[in-house]
Amino acid sequence: MERVISGIRPTGNLHLGNYFGAVKSFVKMQDEYDCMFFIADWHSLTTHPTPENIRNSVKTILSEYLACGIDPEKAPIYVQSDVKQVLELYLYLNMNAYLGELERVTSFKEKVRKQPDNVNAGLLTYPCLMAADILMHKADKVPVGKDQEQNMEMARLFARRFNRIYGVEYFREPASFHFADKAVKVPGLDGTGKMGKSEGNCLYLCDDEKTVTKKIMRAVTDQGPTQLNQEKPEVIQNLFTLCELLSGKEAADYYNDLYNNMQIRYGDMKKQMAADANTLLAPIRERILAYSSDDALLEKVMRQGAEKAAARAEKTIEEVREIIGFRKI
Ligand code: ADP
Ligand code: TRP
Repeated sequence: MERVISGIRPTGNLHLGNYFGAVKSFVKMQDEYDCMFFIADWHSLTTHPTPENIRNSVKTILSEYLACGIDPEKAPIYVQSDVKQVLELYLYLNMNAYLGELERVTSFKEKVRKQPDNVNAGLLTYPCLMAADILMHKADKVPVGKDQEQNMEMARLFARRFNRIYGVEYFREPASFHFADKAVKVPGLDGTGKMGKSEGNCLYLCDDEKTVTKKIMRAVTDQGPTQLNQEKPEVIQNLFTLCELLSGKEAADYYNDLYNNMQIRYGDMKKQMAADANTLLAPIRERILAYSSDDALLEKVMRQGAEKAAARAEKTIEEVREIIGFRKI
């Protein structure tokens, strides 16, 4: 069976971008593939969170994974830092990664701009750690949003390079996976760019009903079309993208016809989107509350996940050590 791995950094609550970009695929894939999902807490150190931040965010994301429907019996969930073998593979991959190519990664350049006082080596080698997460499990498919495409290319490059350097056919090249036929980029509620934690334009999975409605009703729009069949400006296109995700293609088509006939009332469209967002989120919200107060269950899920992931990781590391020429330990 094909193997699947993916993870998210614990840096706050999950939002709709994380859900449609990644977690929805996790839930769908667990029935068809050999899946493992993890919480990328080592990656989160690149932005220097406090110990309290880390502890709370790990628990939050785990509760949210479970609330979205990941079943740890089908798809073990582990915390990255519980599986120390990943660090060894990270080291080996670092030795075959070149400064120039790492410096050219867009998300690295972005971070240099955003946190000029903290351009640490972990940020530079972020793609190596991500590749270690993936290659460790010999994953075939990795469900991620569009923004992770470049990191995925690096993972494939590192797999190929390792094989070439050692003259083996050992690592497979992992493919990105999207539940729709193309990568999703969920737009933010401010009509520009992508929905993201740091952008302040998010709908969180744990937002209450009133907040969801308020945020959607306030989503940025324009004065409406002034010509029949006119091309949509970016803010409006983004609203339609969100509408299709929340309310489905039929609803989006219906409002699209109204837009083309210049009869659209954004308020009506948003009301439907808010109602559908609440239908989607209400049960998830309820389950987040239940899971996050069940420490014993969360502990058990993390422990069992770590055991399964470590067993697989140990096997890979033994093989990799042998390929590189190190002694068996
Ligand atoms: P954030 O941008 O809020 O920090 P992350 O970068 O931690 O989110 O992303 C975690 C996962 O969610 C990744 O797989 C990423 O591709 C996906 N993701 C995040 N935001 C979006 C978005 N707006 N659209 C699609 N996928 C997204
Ligand atoms: N870079 C991913 C993000 O920001 C998190 C991540 C780390 C990841 N390692 C991974 C995703 C391995 C998929 C596979 O969301």
